Amino acid sequence: MDFTTPSGRNPIDQLIVVGRPATRVDGPLKVTGTAPYAYERHEVVANQAYGYVVGATIAKGRIARIDTAAAKAAPGVVTVITTLDYKAAEKNPLRQTAKLFGGAEVAHYHQAVALVVAQTFEEARAAAFLVKVDYETAPGKFDLAAEAPDAPPSVDPNEGEDAEVYDRVGDFDAAFAAAPVKLDETYTTPDETHAMMEPHASIAAWDGDRVTVWTSQQMVHWAKAALATTLDIPEEKVRVESPYIGGGFGSKLYLRADALLAALGAKAAGRPVKVTLQRPLIINNGTHRAATIQRIRLGATPDGRLTAIGHVNISGNLPGGMPEAGIAPTKLFYAAPNREIYLKLAALDLGEANDMRAPGEAPGLMALEMAMDEMAEKLGIDPVEFRVLNDTQADPRNPQRPFSERHLVECLRTGAEHFGWSKRSKTPGAVRDGKWLVGMGMAAGIRLNLLMPSAARIRLEPDGRLTVETDMTDIGTGAYTILAQTAAEMMGVPIGAVTVKLGDSAFPQSAGSGGQWGANTSTSGLYAACVKLREAVAARLGFNAADAEFADGKVTSGNRSIALAEAAKNGPLTGEDGITFGDLDKKYVQATFAAQFAEVGVNSFTGETRVRRMLAVVDAGRVLNPTTARSQVIGGMTMGVGAALMEALAVDTRHGCFVNHDLGGYEVPVHADIPHQEVIFLDHPDVKSSPMKAKGIGEIGLCGVAAAVANAVYNATGVRVRNYPITLEKHFTALPRTA
Ligand code: MOS
Repeated sequence: MDFTTPSGRNPIDQLIVVGRPATRVDGPLKVTGTAPYAYERHEVVANQAYGYVVGATIAKGRIARIDTAAAKAAPGVVTVITTLDYKAAEKNPLRQTAKLFGGAEVAHYHQAVALVVAQTFEEARAAAFLVKVDYETAPGKFDLAAEAPDAPPSVDPNEGEDAEVYDRVGDFDAAFAAAPVKLDETYTTPDETHAMMEPHASIAAWDGDRVTVWTSQQMVHWAKAALATTLDIPEEKVRVESPYIGGGFGSKLYLRADALLAALGAKAAGRPVKVTLQRPLIINNGTHRAATIQRIRLGATPDGRLTAIGHVNISGNLPGGMPEAGIAPTKLFYAAPNREIYLKLAALDLGEANDMRAPGEAPGLMALEMAMDEMAEKLGIDPVEFRVLNDTQADPRNPQRPFSERHLVECLRTGAEHFGWSKRSKTPGAVRDGKWLVGMGMAAGIRLNLLMPSAARIRLEPDGRLTVETDMTDIGTGAYTILAQTAAEMMGVPIGAVTVKLGDSAFPQSAGSGGQWGANTSTSGLYAACVKLREAVAARLGFNAADAEFADGKVTSGNRSIALAEAAKNGPLTGEDGITFGDLDKKYVQATFAAQFAEVGVNSFTGETRVRRMLAVVDAGRVLNPTTARSQVIGGMTMGVGAALMEALAVDTRHGCFVNHDLGGYEVPVHADIPHQEVIFLDHPDVKSSPMKAKGIGEIGLCGVAAAVANAVYNATGVRVRNYPITLEKHFTALPRTA
């Protein structure tokens, strides 16, 4: 099904199942520990051996030699493979930079240099410490601030390789110089890590020249393609299964060393091998969100109209890697006739920087939305009103390109009303509650709605049950549930009559889970498959497909009504199709919006910040399932509190690594850090996004949150901290006197 014109009314609009709260169909498996994760797939293949990854202990240089004799002689060891045994793997074309294994060159700390395979995990681990690696160390660049002045401008990876580097409209320099009210500030965000619960893990087994990998991957077909390229075998010889995933946040978008090493190790060992990246290895071996240095310049008239917006975002990555596109939100968010927005990219020899939840928007809004708060204060205008004043209904670069749906103003007004924004003190540092300085802050969020082709298959069984198959993944988001709801709505049965099977590359290729495109596009692919199945059912029962109605387990047309199961009584019926998208995302900007509000208390003695309550108002098209959608948003809000107050990888600029490379050292919010959270969804189905009229939900919940918390801290204390995270030592000495 090619989606090229805005959707008219269709069976989803009945909203008998879709759009209603439903608990997770995979919930019982999750809470009983019976949803098998990759490392626990003990039953899929016999005789599994354990691999333990040896990571490089230098950040840059070459390996002169590796001595594996002692490791090979250790108890239980099956085999040891080293990076010197393989030629450097081809660079995977799928937005991936670091070479995962092969060759003598070390490009970053904890790059995999060997895999020890043994009978047990403990034997593999013990032997791994006997592998001796001689390095020739080379100097590297590890300090973004030091490299920033010479960083060259870079194309925005989201615009395509041929795009202009500079997003320029009007005459920024002249307009900024002439602006009656100006802001010129620099904000920094740190390197962050995904810190998902389930580590990267894979089991690989060869059958002749075919390999099966049971793994934890957000994008099954990308993993399959990347494995084929890297192993230099045809794609049809690779099977990937990833049915349950314990979090990803972007860390599992691309092939990582666990899957490759499991495949290579299994080949060398002549038996199946399982590999997890040990937790202390993940942060330097895997990908991270790059730190940013962002200069924002805003010019405005005294009545609060922005006349000039300038945003330069500097980040670093391995040579050949992509920048963190912190400018992404600024391109589209606010009207201003004069604009200059661009990226700079420094070459650094830290591990690979790559996508993490709301890549670009999340760190970009941390800067932009703090700048907007500062500018509102300079202008003496309420921060909510300042944003309303500068709303735009079209792409600021092209007035001919409207937003498909944009209800940011409604988000802002609804949120202000609901949160009690009018009670906020305009004077910062003025509200006390015992030892606490109390403040309110807000920020706005935007994140693109991306469209990806997605296919699915649905089968009506003779007993009337439906089985859905697609290589879509559920990374903890609720994909199983919304797919079951979609099939149930389309075929007129209860959710319980639908079985959803996901994450197998043998199934039709889906959109996968990334960029918050999964929910809207994977359900649309299933919608297309259901249309095909409805046609097959109608044909089998002798109905005209166009006027047959599917409801209550029956197919009805005129005064004839037949049980759905009848259609399959002589054998299953299958519908298979996919959705592809035309140019509705070129003609219209498709995006999701949020207004984020936070109230914090800052301890006037210690500077410690405690979030007291939070509210998000979200405009993301039709909400397919309010329960799972809310979970996505409160998860994003929680992550935003982490970004505002605690999350940061500490860079060792001498040795070139992230020092706090485990969950003990990398702080994320825990339950005790998170207060009352509330989410309001606006109901604006988007007929230009898909037949589901839904949009992305997985990332908008994070967008703007950190700035809302930061702005609340400022409102509480009167001390502006522009370098995230806002840990207590950054404003402790500047707090108002307590006595
Ligand atoms: Mo997302 S950063 O595309 O998993």
